[in-house]
This record gives sequence, structure tokens and C-alpha cells, in this order.
Amino acid sequence: MQLTRKGLWGGLIREFRDFLPEISDSAITTLREGNTPLVEVENLKDIFGDIRLLLKYEGLNPTGSFKDRGMTFAVSKAREEGAKAVICASTGNTSASAAAYAAKAGMKAYVLVPDGGIALGKLSQAMMHGALVLQIKGNFDDALNLVKEITKNYPIKLVNSINPFRIEGQKTAAFEVCEHLGFAPTYHFLPVGNAGNITAYWKGYNEYYREGFISNLPKMMGFQAEGSAPIVLGHPIEDPHTIATAIKIGNPASWEGALKAKKESGGVIDMVSDEEILEAYKLLASREGVFCEPASAASLAGAIKMKKEGVLNDGDTVVCTLTGHGLKDPDNAMNNSPKPTKVPVDIDKILEIMGF
Ligand code: F0G
Repeated sequence: MQLTRKGLWGGLIREFRDFLPEISDSAITTLREGNTPLVEVENLKDIFGDIRLLLKYEGLNPTGSFKDRGMTFAVSKAREEGAKAVICASTGNTSASAAAYAAKAGMKAYVLVPDGGIALGKLSQAMMHGALVLQIKGNFDDALNLVKEITKNYPIKLVNSINPFRIEGQKTAAFEVCEHLGFAPTYHFLPVGNAGNITAYWKGYNEYYREGFISNLPKMMGFQAEGSAPIVLGHPIEDPHTIATAIKIGNPASWEGALKAKKESGGVIDMVSDEEILEAYKLLASREGVFCEPASAASLAGAIKMKKEGVLNDGDTVVCTLTGHGLKDPDNAMNNSPKPTKVPVDIDKILEIMGF
């Protein structure tokens, strides 16, 4: 029998090179990110009826979030330009991804995160990958202002999504959705924090549309957390709050990009409460076998809200992006699920508890 190379994936830069800015081969820094599954929802018919619902499970990227798509490109570009170090502000996932790709590229990573409110998994990743982790006594917006200031004066590459190469990498998720479905969905739901991802998806869908690969564009449905919804309210928020710490952002950098996606696609930027987010988080884990972090579940919470409001119809194809893996945030998982039952080494007792 002959070995085949069937199914080997080169990472998204190599796979989508025709649709990305030029990059030299020797600079490509990849952990084989992308090619994440589009999982068909099967057990939520009581909520969604005959709507076809799919989950773009971005938690299955190498560092457990969609950030790897942008980071492979931003770090590769930084490497091509000869940068020795990268820096970012982060609610956690960007810092984990920047730290991993910097390690792979042989660069130093500096990450500024809020002191408190970073999920444990994310913090441990940045630490393990050898980043210098700076916990600032402020929130994400303060951290982003600081890294913008630092990169003005020092030779360190900024790898937040205001770096346009981040958006370029992230748009490939929209390509994959189209490739998997064979067409574009009717609606695409996303959590919105700094608003880079919704901006990137909209760019990706438009590029495939212009190429003639798809004949319709989805309505872009962005959801912020209620206590942290500057775009919905129309003004920055000084002190944002939400259990979904990944999207606890009061002044998103890609605010305009989100509004453009909403306006041009005929979609919405709306909000969901922490209760709705946790409900969707638990539903996905307990009924679909898909474990995402709380912020990710804002997309499904948004879809549930829109279904209740009569916006979604039978026959629609709806994609929800699940941006990060549930293991990122073990504390929220432990606090939102039944506790383990302690038992003696006694088979009768165990069988009794099992209900036999
Ligand atoms: N979901 C997760 C899990 C995230 O980590 C983020 C952003 C978002 C959604 C929102 O995406 O910012 O493009 O609108 N996390 C950033 C970070 C801010 O630092 O990891 P966005």
C-alpha cells in the first residue's frame, strides 16, 4: 500500500495565498492554523425548528482561538520585515496566540493584559510560551492605548487587529465557511469585542463574492455583551462589565468596520445579557458536545434572540462562529456545571447513585 498525503493542511497562508498580500516563503510562521470544522447542530430543533444551524468551531485552532488566523500572518509579516519583538494588548486570547507564534518565529513577545479578568487557560498559555506578561491596573482599552504609544517610539511590531495583516488572516474563516457549505449562509453570527473579526469576515465574504465563488452575501449579526456594548449604545464605555471577559471592551478599535459590515450586509449589531450568554454556553456543551468559552456563546445567544424575535426563518442557513475553546476558561466551566459526586470505593453505592 502507498502512503498518500490526503488531507494534509499547510496552514492558512499557504492554503489561501492567492487571496492574501504577498509574503516570502521563508517568513511564513505557521502552526497549521485554520481548516476548522463547521459542525452541524442537531439537537436544538426545539429552539430553531427547520433552520439549518452550523457552528464554525474556531476553538480548534492551535492555541484554541480564532486569533491564530490573524497571528500567523501578522507574525510572518513582522518576521519578513526583520522585527525582533511583537507586542499586544489583550483580554487573553490574542496574548496566547501572539506568544505562541512569536516563540515559533524566534521573537520576543510582550503582552499587556488587564490585572484580573483574564481566563486562567489564556494566561497560562502566554506564560508557557515565554512572553513577558504585564498585568496592568486598568482594562483592555487602557492596555491598547499603551501598546499604541509604545510602538510609536520603539521597534516592536504591534499585533493587535489594528495591524491590517491580522484582518487579512482572519478573513480566511469566511472563505472556509463558503468552501464547506458550497455557498454563503443567510446569516452569520459573531461575538463582538474589539470588532476585528466581524470586519474580517465581511471582507472575506466580499472577496469570494467578487470572485464569483458565492452568489449571495450573508447578513452579518454581531453581538456584544450587555454590560459592554459600546457599539450598540453608540458611545464608548468607561468601565465595561461582563462574564464574557474576552469581549469586555469599552472602545473597540474596529468600531467603523463593524458598522460597515452591519450596514452593507443589512445585519445588526445587538447585545445579549450575561444570562443569555451562559444559557447558550451550557446548551452547546450539554446538547451538542461542543465546548466553547463564554464570549463565543454570544453568537448562539444572539441567534436564539433573533429566532425569538422572528428574524430567522425556516430554510435559512445560519452560521455561528465559536471563537474560543471552553478549556480556556476552566473557572466559568466549573461554576456553571453540576459538581462531581464524591463516592466511596463501593460498587453498590455507585450503582445506586447511577440509578441502577
Ligand atoms: N471571542 C473571543 C473568544 C475573543 O477572544 C475575542 C477577542 C472576541 C470573541 C471578539 O473578537 O475583538 O475581533 O471583535 N479577544 C481579543 C483578545 C480582544 O485580546 O483576545 P473581536
